[in-house]
Amino acid sequence: MRTVDLIEKKVQNEELTTEEISFLIKGFLDSTVPDYQMAAMQMAIVFNGMSDREATDLTMEMMHSGDIVDLSDLKGVKVDKHSTGGVGDTTTLVVAPLIAACGGTVAKMSGRGLGHTGGTIDKLESIPGMQVEIPLDKFKQIVNHIGVSVIGQSGDLDPADKKMYALRDVTATVRSIPLIASSIMSKKLAAGADAIVLDVKVGSGAFMQTLDQARALATLMVEIGKRVGRRVVAIITDMNQPLGMAVGNALEVREAVELLSGRIPKGDPLYEVCMLLGTHMLLLSDLASDADDARQKLETALESGAGLKKLQQMVTAQGGDASYLCMQRIDELCKVREIRPIYPKTEGYLSAINAERIGTAAQMLGAGRATKADRIDPAVGLVMKKRLGDAVHIDEPLCMMYINDPAKADAAIEEFYSAFMISEQKPAHCPMVYDVIGE
Ligand code: URA
Ligand code: CA
Repeated sequence: MRTVDLIEKKVQNEELTTEEISFLIKGFLDSTVPDYQMAAMQMAIVFNGMSDREATDLTMEMMHSGDIVDLSDLKGVKVDKHSTGGVGDTTTLVVAPLIAACGGTVAKMSGRGLGHTGGTIDKLESIPGMQVEIPLDKFKQIVNHIGVSVIGQSGDLDPADKKMYALRDVTATVRSIPLIASSIMSKKLAAGADAIVLDVKVGSGAFMQTLDQARALATLMVEIGKRVGRRVVAIITDMNQPLGMAVGNALEVREAVELLSGRIPKGDPLYEVCMLLGTHMLLLSDLASDADDARQKLETALESGAGLKKLQQMVTAQGGDASYLCMQRIDELCKVREIRPIYPKTEGYLSAINAERIGTAAQMLGAGRATKADRIDPAVGLVMKKRLGDAVHIDEPLCMMYINDPAKADAAIEEFYSAFMISEQKPAHCPMVYDVIGE
Protein backbone atom coordinates (compact mmCIF):
# COMPACT_ATOMS: atom_id res chain seq x y z
CA MET A 1 0.00 0.00 0.00
CA ARG A 2 1.27 3.49 -0.81
CA THR A 3 0.10 6.48 1.18
CA VAL A 4 0.08 8.69 -1.90
CA ASP A 5 -2.50 6.39 -3.53
CA LEU A 6 -4.73 6.65 -0.47
CA ILE A 7 -4.51 10.44 -0.53
CA GLU A 8 -5.34 10.39 -4.25
CA LYS A 9 -8.34 8.18 -3.52
CA LYS A 10 -9.68 10.68 -0.97
CA VAL A 11 -8.95 13.58 -3.34
CA GLN A 12 -11.13 11.72 -5.89
CA ASN A 13 -13.84 11.51 -3.19
CA GLU A 14 -13.69 7.72 -2.96
CA GLU A 15 -14.11 5.66 0.21
CA LEU A 16 -11.09 4.27 2.03
CA THR A 17 -11.32 0.65 3.16
CA THR A 18 -10.95 -0.49 6.77
CA GLU A 19 -7.45 -1.83 5.95
CA GLU A 20 -6.42 1.43 4.29
CA ILE A 21 -7.51 3.48 7.31
CA SER A 22 -5.63 1.11 9.60
CA PHE A 23 -2.47 1.35 7.45
CA LEU A 24 -2.66 5.14 7.54
CA ILE A 25 -3.11 5.55 11.30
CA LYS A 26 -0.56 2.89 12.27
CA GLY A 27 1.91 4.39 9.78
CA PHE A 28 1.35 7.91 11.09
CA LEU A 29 1.99 6.75 14.66
CA ASP A 30 5.24 4.97 13.80
CA SER A 31 6.21 7.86 11.46
CA THR A 32 6.37 5.77 8.29
CA VAL A 33 3.55 8.08 7.15
CA PRO A 34 5.13 11.54 7.52
CA ASP A 35 3.31 14.63 8.77
CA TYR A 36 3.02 16.15 5.29
CA GLN A 37 1.16 13.13 3.91
CA MET A 38 -1.15 12.98 6.94
CA ALA A 39 -1.78 16.73 6.62
CA ALA A 40 -2.68 16.28 2.94
CA MET A 41 -5.02 13.42 3.82
CA GLN A 42 -6.68 15.45 6.58
CA MET A 43 -7.17 18.35 4.17
CA ALA A 44 -8.74 15.99 1.61
CA ILE A 45 -11.09 14.77 4.39
CA VAL A 46 -11.98 18.38 5.24
CA PHE A 47 -13.15 18.90 1.64
CA ASN A 48 -14.56 15.47 0.74
CA GLY A 49 -15.69 14.12 4.11
CA MET A 50 -16.06 10.49 5.10
CA SER A 51 -18.87 7.95 5.07
CA ASP A 52 -20.24 6.85 8.45
CA ARG A 53 -18.41 3.54 7.94
CA GLU A 54 -15.08 5.28 7.30
CA ALA A 55 -15.57 7.56 10.32
CA THR A 56 -16.35 4.52 12.49
CA ASP A 57 -13.27 2.65 11.23
CA LEU A 58 -11.14 5.74 11.88
CA THR A 59 -12.58 6.04 15.39
CA MET A 60 -11.85 2.40 16.22
CA GLU A 61 -8.33 2.56 14.82
CA MET A 62 -7.60 5.70 16.89
CA MET A 63 -9.19 4.20 20.00
CA HIS A 64 -6.95 1.11 19.71
CA SER A 65 -3.79 3.20 19.19
CA GLY A 66 -3.12 3.30 22.95
CA ASP A 67 -4.39 2.14 26.33
CA ILE A 68 -8.02 1.20 26.73
CA VAL A 69 -9.43 1.66 30.21
CA ASP A 70 -11.17 -1.45 31.48
CA LEU A 71 -14.03 -0.48 33.78
CA SER A 72 -15.75 -3.87 33.55
CA ASP A 73 -15.05 -4.70 37.20
CA LEU A 74 -17.03 -1.65 38.36
CA LYS A 75 -20.65 -2.23 39.28
CA GLY A 76 -23.54 -0.75 37.32
CA VAL A 77 -23.72 1.01 33.98
CA LYS A 78 -20.67 3.28 33.65
CA VAL A 79 -21.97 6.53 32.24
CA ASP A 80 -19.87 9.41 30.94
CA LYS A 81 -20.59 12.85 29.58
CA HIS A 82 -18.65 15.04 27.21
CA SER A 83 -19.04 18.59 26.04
CA THR A 84 -17.60 19.73 22.73
CA GLY A 85 -16.12 22.74 24.46
CA GLY A 86 -17.95 25.52 26.17
CA VAL A 87 -17.31 28.75 28.02
CA GLY A 88 -18.58 28.90 31.60
CA ASP A 89 -19.63 25.26 31.34
CA THR A 90 -19.28 23.75 34.79
CA THR A 91 -21.86 21.00 34.19
CA THR A 92 -19.55 18.07 35.04
CA LEU A 93 -19.03 19.38 38.59
CA VAL A 94 -22.80 19.44 39.05
CA VAL A 95 -24.02 16.44 37.08
CA ALA A 96 -21.38 13.82 37.97
CA PRO A 97 -22.11 14.03 41.74
CA LEU A 98 -25.88 14.25 41.13
CA ILE A 99 -25.77 11.01 39.10
CA ALA A 100 -23.80 9.33 41.88
CA ALA A 101 -26.37 10.58 44.40
CA CYS A 102 -29.07 8.91 42.27
CA GLY A 103 -27.23 5.57 42.39
CA GLY A 104 -25.33 5.91 39.09
CA THR A 105 -21.68 5.20 38.31
CA VAL A 106 -19.48 7.95 36.88
CA ALA A 107 -15.82 7.07 36.27
CA LYS A 108 -14.75 10.09 34.31
CA MET A 109 -11.52 11.14 32.67
CA SER A 110 -11.51 14.81 31.89
CA GLY A 111 -9.29 17.23 30.07
CA ARG A 112 -7.43 20.42 30.81
CA GLY A 113 -8.47 23.65 29.19
CA LEU A 114 -6.62 25.08 26.24
CA GLY A 115 -7.38 28.39 24.60
CA HIS A 116 -10.74 29.97 25.37
CA THR A 117 -12.46 26.94 26.95
CA GLY A 118 -11.88 25.81 30.51
CA GLY A 119 -11.14 22.24 31.56
CA THR A 120 -12.78 20.36 34.41
CA ILE A 121 -9.40 19.16 35.67
CA ASP A 122 -8.12 22.73 36.02
CA LYS A 123 -11.31 23.68 37.86
CA LEU A 124 -10.93 20.78 40.30
CA GLU A 125 -7.31 21.75 40.93
CA SER A 126 -8.45 25.10 42.31
CA ILE A 127 -9.52 23.14 45.42
CA PRO A 128 -6.50 22.89 47.78
CA GLY A 129 -4.98 19.42 47.92
CA MET A 130 -7.11 18.00 45.12
CA GLN A 131 -5.36 15.19 43.22
CA VAL A 132 -6.39 14.59 39.63
CA GLU A 133 -3.59 12.24 38.68
CA ILE A 134 -4.29 9.06 40.58
CA PRO A 135 -3.57 5.42 39.70
CA LEU A 136 -6.30 3.56 37.89
CA ASP A 137 -6.92 1.04 40.68
CA LYS A 138 -7.39 3.82 43.27
CA PHE A 139 -9.66 5.67 40.82
CA LYS A 140 -11.82 2.55 40.50
CA GLN A 141 -11.87 2.05 44.28
CA ILE A 142 -13.20 5.58 44.72
CA VAL A 143 -15.87 5.02 42.07
CA ASN A 144 -16.95 1.74 43.67
CA HIS A 145 -17.11 3.39 47.08
CA ILE A 146 -18.66 6.78 46.27
CA GLY A 147 -20.10 6.34 42.77
CA VAL A 148 -18.05 9.11 41.19
CA SER A 149 -14.48 10.12 40.50
CA VAL A 150 -13.12 12.61 37.98
CA ILE A 151 -9.44 12.43 37.04
CA GLY A 152 -7.15 13.59 34.25
CA GLN A 153 -6.42 11.30 31.33
CA SER A 154 -4.09 8.65 32.64
CA GLY A 155 -1.60 6.53 30.75
CA ASP A 156 -1.28 6.61 27.02
CA LEU A 157 -4.86 7.17 25.95
CA ASP A 158 -5.45 7.64 22.22
CA PRO A 159 -1.96 8.75 21.09
CA ALA A 160 -3.24 8.81 17.49
CA ASP A 161 -5.62 11.62 18.43
CA LYS A 162 -2.89 13.62 20.18
CA LYS A 163 -0.66 13.44 17.12
CA MET A 164 -3.45 14.04 14.62
CA TYR A 165 -4.91 16.94 16.60
CA ALA A 166 -1.52 18.64 16.91
CA LEU A 167 -1.20 18.48 13.12
CA ARG A 168 -4.80 19.61 12.50
CA ASP A 169 -4.28 22.56 14.82
CA VAL A 170 -1.51 24.00 12.60
CA THR A 171 -2.92 23.03 9.18
CA ALA A 172 -6.44 24.51 9.48
CA THR A 173 -8.03 21.04 9.47
CA VAL A 174 -9.78 21.11 12.84
CA ARG A 175 -13.24 21.98 11.53
CA SER A 176 -14.12 18.71 9.77
CA ILE A 177 -17.13 16.83 11.12
CA PRO A 178 -15.73 13.27 10.65
CA LEU A 179 -12.36 14.34 12.10
CA ILE A 180 -13.98 15.98 15.14
CA ALA A 181 -16.38 13.05 15.64
CA SER A 182 -13.60 10.43 15.48
CA SER A 183 -11.36 12.53 17.73
CA ILE A 184 -14.01 12.87 20.43
CA MET A 185 -15.48 9.36 20.16
CA SER A 186 -12.13 7.53 20.08
CA LYS A 187 -11.12 9.19 23.38
CA LYS A 188 -14.51 8.57 24.99
CA LEU A 189 -14.60 4.92 23.89
CA ALA A 190 -11.01 4.35 25.09
CA ALA A 191 -12.00 5.78 28.49
CA GLY A 192 -14.24 2.74 28.97
CA ALA A 193 -17.81 3.98 29.60
CA ASP A 194 -20.81 1.88 28.57
CA ALA A 195 -22.98 4.90 27.87
CA ILE A 196 -22.13 8.46 26.88
CA VAL A 197 -24.14 11.68 26.83
CA LEU A 198 -22.65 14.29 24.52
CA ASP A 199 -23.33 18.00 24.74
CA VAL A 200 -22.71 19.45 21.30
CA LYS A 201 -22.41 23.21 21.53
CA VAL A 202 -23.49 25.51 18.76
CA GLY A 203 -22.83 29.23 18.48
CA SER A 204 -20.20 31.92 18.80
CA GLY A 205 -18.15 30.08 21.41
CA ALA A 206 -18.29 26.64 19.73
CA PHE A 207 -16.55 24.64 16.99
CA MET A 208 -19.95 24.29 15.33
CA GLN A 209 -21.31 27.68 14.43
CA THR A 210 -24.56 26.59 12.75
CA LEU A 211 -27.33 24.28 13.92
CA ASP A 212 -27.01 22.15 10.76
CA GLN A 213 -23.33 21.51 11.45
CA ALA A 214 -24.01 20.71 15.11
CA ARG A 215 -26.78 18.28 14.13
CA ALA A 216 -24.50 16.57 11.61
CA LEU A 217 -21.73 16.19 14.23
CA ALA A 218 -24.17 14.92 16.88
CA THR A 219 -25.79 12.46 14.46
CA LEU A 220 -22.43 11.06 13.36
CA MET A 221 -21.20 10.59 16.95
CA VAL A 222 -24.44 8.82 17.93
CA GLU A 223 -24.12 6.63 14.81
CA ILE A 224 -20.50 5.72 15.62
CA GLY A 225 -21.57 4.76 19.15
CA LYS A 226 -24.37 2.59 17.78
CA ARG A 227 -22.03 0.85 15.31
CA VAL A 228 -19.65 -0.13 18.12
CA GLY A 229 -22.32 -1.16 20.63
CA ARG A 230 -22.32 1.75 23.08
CA ARG A 231 -25.36 3.77 24.01
CA VAL A 232 -24.90 7.40 23.02
CA VAL A 233 -27.26 10.38 23.21
CA ALA A 234 -26.34 13.87 22.05
CA ILE A 235 -28.00 17.07 23.14
CA ILE A 236 -27.41 20.24 21.14
CA THR A 237 -27.18 23.33 23.30
CA ASP A 238 -26.53 27.02 22.85
CA MET A 239 -23.08 28.56 23.13
CA ASN A 240 -23.93 32.09 21.99
CA GLN A 241 -23.05 33.22 25.51
CA PRO A 242 -21.32 31.58 28.46
CA LEU A 243 -23.54 28.80 29.87
CA GLY A 244 -23.18 29.84 33.49
CA MET A 245 -22.35 33.30 34.82
CA ALA A 246 -18.85 32.37 36.04
CA VAL A 247 -15.84 32.00 33.71
CA GLY A 248 -12.69 30.94 35.55
CA ASN A 249 -11.62 27.95 37.59
CA ALA A 250 -12.48 28.54 41.27
CA LEU A 251 -15.30 30.85 40.12
CA GLU A 252 -16.87 27.93 38.23
CA VAL A 253 -16.40 25.60 41.21
CA ARG A 254 -18.23 28.25 43.25
CA GLU A 255 -21.09 28.34 40.74
CA ALA A 256 -21.34 24.52 40.85
CA VAL A 257 -21.49 24.64 44.66
CA GLU A 258 -24.15 27.37 44.45
CA LEU A 259 -26.22 25.19 42.15
CA LEU A 260 -25.81 22.10 44.32
CA SER A 261 -26.75 24.24 47.36
CA GLY A 262 -30.06 25.22 45.75
CA ARG A 263 -29.01 28.85 45.13
CA ILE A 264 -29.59 28.78 41.37
CA PRO A 265 -33.23 28.72 40.27
CA LYS A 266 -34.93 26.40 37.80
CA GLY A 267 -35.01 27.97 34.34
CA ASP A 268 -31.44 29.21 34.65
CA PRO A 269 -29.46 27.93 31.62
CA LEU A 270 -26.79 26.15 33.68
CA TYR A 271 -29.46 24.52 35.83
CA GLU A 272 -31.51 23.38 32.85
CA VAL A 273 -28.59 22.01 30.82
CA CYS A 274 -27.39 20.10 33.91
CA MET A 275 -30.87 18.62 34.35
CA LEU A 276 -31.09 17.61 30.69
CA LEU A 277 -27.64 16.00 30.70
CA GLY A 278 -28.46 14.26 33.98
CA THR A 279 -31.83 13.05 32.66
CA HIS A 280 -30.19 11.27 29.73
CA MET A 281 -27.39 9.91 31.91
CA LEU A 282 -29.94 8.36 34.29
CA LEU A 283 -32.00 6.98 31.40
CA LEU A 284 -28.93 5.39 29.78
CA SER A 285 -28.01 3.95 33.20
CA ASP A 286 -31.48 2.35 33.45
CA LEU A 287 -32.03 4.26 36.70
CA ALA A 288 -35.20 6.08 35.66
CA SER A 289 -38.39 4.93 33.94
CA ASP A 290 -38.78 8.05 31.79
CA ALA A 291 -37.56 11.63 31.48
CA ASP A 292 -40.00 12.97 34.12
CA ASP A 293 -38.92 10.30 36.60
CA ALA A 294 -35.25 11.10 35.91
CA ARG A 295 -35.75 14.82 36.43
CA GLN A 296 -37.67 14.16 39.65
CA LYS A 297 -34.81 12.02 40.99
CA LEU A 298 -32.22 14.65 40.06
CA GLU A 299 -34.20 17.45 41.71
CA THR A 300 -34.61 15.37 44.87
CA ALA A 301 -30.84 14.70 44.96
CA LEU A 302 -30.20 18.41 44.52
CA GLU A 303 -32.76 19.70 47.03
CA SER A 304 -31.80 17.18 49.72
CA GLY A 305 -28.13 18.21 49.48
CA ALA A 306 -27.16 14.66 48.47
CA GLY A 307 -25.48 15.92 45.28
CA LEU A 308 -23.31 18.44 47.14
CA LYS A 309 -22.41 15.74 49.63
CA LYS A 310 -21.23 13.47 46.79
CA LEU A 311 -19.02 16.25 45.42
CA GLN A 312 -17.53 16.76 48.89
CA GLN A 313 -16.95 13.00 49.30
CA MET A 314 -15.26 12.77 45.92
CA VAL A 315 -12.98 15.70 46.68
CA THR A 316 -12.07 14.24 50.07
CA ALA A 317 -11.31 10.84 48.50
CA GLN A 318 -9.00 12.57 46.01
CA GLY A 319 -7.07 14.38 48.74
CA GLY A 320 -8.81 17.73 48.45
CA ASP A 321 -10.04 19.96 51.27
CA ALA A 322 -13.82 19.64 50.92
CA SER A 323 -14.45 22.08 53.78
CA TYR A 324 -14.32 24.88 51.18
CA LEU A 325 -17.22 23.37 49.25
CA CYS A 326 -20.09 25.07 51.07
CA MET A 327 -21.70 28.50 50.83
CA GLN A 328 -19.96 29.63 54.05
CA ARG A 329 -16.43 29.09 52.74
CA ILE A 330 -16.42 28.87 48.95
CA ASP A 331 -15.58 32.59 48.54
CA GLU A 332 -12.18 31.89 50.10
CA LEU A 333 -11.15 30.09 46.90
CA CYS A 334 -12.02 33.16 44.83
CA LYS A 335 -9.89 35.71 46.74
CA VAL A 336 -8.06 38.08 44.39
CA ARG A 337 -6.28 41.44 44.69
CA GLU A 338 -9.09 43.31 42.99
CA ILE A 339 -12.69 42.68 41.90
CA ARG A 340 -13.38 45.30 39.25
CA PRO A 341 -16.85 46.07 37.85
CA ILE A 342 -16.83 46.52 34.06
CA TYR A 343 -19.49 48.96 32.86
CA PRO A 344 -20.98 49.19 29.38
CA LYS A 345 -20.03 52.20 27.26
CA THR A 346 -23.53 52.60 25.80
CA GLU A 347 -27.08 51.77 26.83
CA GLY A 348 -29.65 49.51 25.19
CA TYR A 349 -30.11 45.76 25.00
CA LEU A 350 -27.41 43.15 24.99
CA SER A 351 -28.04 41.80 21.49
CA ALA A 352 -25.00 39.59 20.77
CA ILE A 353 -22.18 38.07 22.75
CA ASN A 354 -19.09 36.40 21.34
CA ALA A 355 -18.62 33.64 23.91
CA GLU A 356 -15.18 32.75 22.57
CA ARG A 357 -13.96 36.29 23.33
CA ILE A 358 -15.39 36.13 26.86
CA GLY A 359 -13.41 32.93 27.35
CA THR A 360 -10.32 34.57 25.89
CA ALA A 361 -10.69 37.57 28.24
CA ALA A 362 -10.72 35.21 31.23
CA GLN A 363 -7.73 33.36 29.79
CA MET A 364 -5.84 36.66 29.46
CA LEU A 365 -6.43 37.36 33.15
CA GLY A 366 -4.66 34.06 33.88
CA ALA A 367 -7.63 31.64 34.01
CA GLY A 368 -6.44 29.66 30.99
CA ARG A 369 -3.42 28.71 28.98
CA ALA A 370 -2.27 30.16 25.68
CA THR A 371 0.32 27.37 25.49
CA LYS A 372 0.46 24.04 27.29
CA ALA A 373 3.30 25.28 29.53
CA ASP A 374 1.37 28.26 30.96
CA ARG A 375 0.41 28.18 34.63
CA ILE A 376 -3.17 28.85 35.63
CA ASP A 377 -4.20 31.32 38.34
CA PRO A 378 -7.17 29.48 39.91
CA ALA A 379 -8.93 32.51 41.42
CA VAL A 380 -9.08 34.91 38.45
CA GLY A 381 -11.73 35.22 35.77
CA LEU A 382 -15.03 36.99 35.48
CA VAL A 383 -18.62 36.73 36.63
CA MET A 384 -21.21 37.93 34.14
CA LYS A 385 -23.92 40.23 35.44
CA LYS A 386 -25.97 40.39 32.22
CA ARG A 387 -27.27 37.84 29.74
CA LEU A 388 -28.38 38.09 26.11
CA GLY A 389 -31.51 40.21 25.82
CA ASP A 390 -30.99 42.04 29.11
CA ALA A 391 -31.30 45.84 29.23
CA VAL A 392 -27.94 47.45 30.00
CA HIS A 393 -27.30 50.80 31.69
CA ILE A 394 -23.98 52.59 32.01
CA ASP A 395 -24.18 52.44 35.81
CA GLU A 396 -24.81 48.65 35.91
CA PRO A 397 -21.78 46.40 35.38
CA LEU A 398 -21.70 43.86 32.55
CA CYS A 399 -19.42 41.70 34.67
CA MET A 400 -17.16 41.63 37.70
CA MET A 401 -13.55 40.90 36.82
CA TYR A 402 -11.43 38.96 39.30
CA ILE A 403 -7.92 40.33 38.84
CA ASN A 404 -4.62 39.32 40.45
CA ASP A 405 -2.16 40.81 37.99
CA PRO A 406 -3.13 44.40 37.07
CA ALA A 407 -0.69 44.28 34.15
CA LYS A 408 -2.96 41.71 32.47
CA ALA A 409 -6.20 43.59 33.09
CA ASP A 410 -6.19 46.21 30.31
CA ALA A 411 -5.85 43.72 27.47
CA ALA A 412 -8.46 41.43 29.06
CA ILE A 413 -10.92 44.33 29.46
CA GLU A 414 -10.40 45.34 25.83
CA GLU A 415 -11.06 41.73 24.73
CA PHE A 416 -14.14 41.63 26.97
CA TYR A 417 -15.60 44.83 25.45
CA SER A 418 -15.04 43.44 21.94
CA ALA A 419 -17.32 40.52 22.82
CA PHE A 420 -20.56 42.55 23.02
CA MET A 421 -23.08 44.17 20.75
CA ILE A 422 -25.54 46.55 22.38
CA SER A 423 -28.55 47.65 20.32
CA GLU A 424 -31.71 49.69 20.75
CA GLN A 425 -34.00 46.78 19.87
CA LYS A 426 -34.54 43.90 22.25
CA PRO A 427 -33.22 40.82 20.39
CA ALA A 428 -35.29 37.69 19.74
CA HIS A 429 -35.13 35.09 22.50
CA CYS A 430 -32.38 32.52 22.00
CA PRO A 431 -33.21 28.91 22.97
CA MET A 432 -30.93 26.98 25.35
CA VAL A 433 -31.54 23.52 23.94
CA TYR A 434 -32.04 22.91 20.22
CA ASP A 435 -32.33 19.17 19.88
CA VAL A 436 -31.74 15.73 21.37
CA ILE A 437 -30.37 13.01 19.08
CA GLY A 438 -30.31 9.28 19.71
CA GLU A 439 -32.24 6.68 21.81
N1 URA B 1 -12.66 18.28 20.58
C1 URA B 1 -11.90 17.17 20.36
O1 URA B 1 -11.62 16.42 21.27
N2 URA B 1 -11.47 16.94 19.12
C2 URA B 1 -11.74 17.74 18.08
O2 URA B 1 -11.33 17.46 16.98
C3 URA B 1 -12.52 18.89 18.33
C4 URA B 1 -12.97 19.12 19.59
CA1 CA C 1 -19.18 22.38 18.97
